[in-house]
Amino acid sequence: MIWTKEQLAELDGRYRGRFINSISGVKPANLIATKSKEGLSNVALFSSVVHLGANPAMLGFVMRPPTVERHTWDNILETEVYTINMVTTELSEKAHYTSARSERNASEFEWCDLEEAYYEDFHAPYVGNSPLSYGMRLENKFPISNGCYFISGTVEWVKFDEAFLAQDGYLDIAEQGAAGIVALDGYHGLSKQFRLSFAKKGEELQQLKDFKKGW
Ligand SMILES: Cc1cc2nc3c(=O)[nH]c(=O)nc-3n(C[C@H](O)[C@H](O)[C@H](O)COP(=O)(O)O)c2cc1C
Repeated sequence: MIWTKEQLAELDGRYRGRFINSISGVKPANLIATKSKEGLSNVALFSSVVHLGANPAMLGFVMRPPTVERHTWDNILETEVYTINMVTTELSEKAHYTSARSERNASEFEWCDLEEAYYEDFHAPYVGNSPLSYGMRLENKFPISNGCYFISGTVEWVKFDEAFLAQDGYLDIAEQGAAGIVALDGYHGLSKQFRLSFAKKGEELQQLKDFKKGW
């Protein structure tokens, strides 16, 4: 079956949303946590976090159009800091719940039963129940033609469990139970099949043996 641009445009909006949001594949499940200047904390689910570069360490994500009240957006613009927290399959239900609309003064940390934690004097909270959290500083916001924004930021600190860190720097997030998302409601568990050697034309690929873990 092939659907053209014109046929896609004729589909029911929600149906099309689910379909198009499925075709890019499994996306990472992350909670973005922020706090307003006045001290109101907020946490919300995002499936668009991407790696941008390692030196300096940078990540980005897509923010929906700020045409309605968006607490994550407001807090990031106001304070320029946020944390990104990995969602595990175990945390998926609580994380999904954070996507519900809520009043500005109701913290999802409370009504979604997530642990609000802080690293030193970093203004934004992190999710204490998550095995991997990192502090981010806003770098730029790029408008996209559909009204969304692409937000880029730099990494200030990373909190992780060294028991899952291989000796060559690979962090085994699948072993930690990381969840993957398809469309806006499909939660997947991940299992690593293998790691492969650096690809060089004319050289056979090797499956890498598991490196010793720990620090
Ligand atoms: C699976 C899933 C993935 C989502 N990913 C994004 C995303 O990448 N960008 C975004 O702006 N909103 C995303 N959302 C919607 C936000 O979670 C939702 O708008 C939330 O209410 C924002 O909360 P806030 O107003 O506290 O910032 C996603 C929702 C779900 C259920």
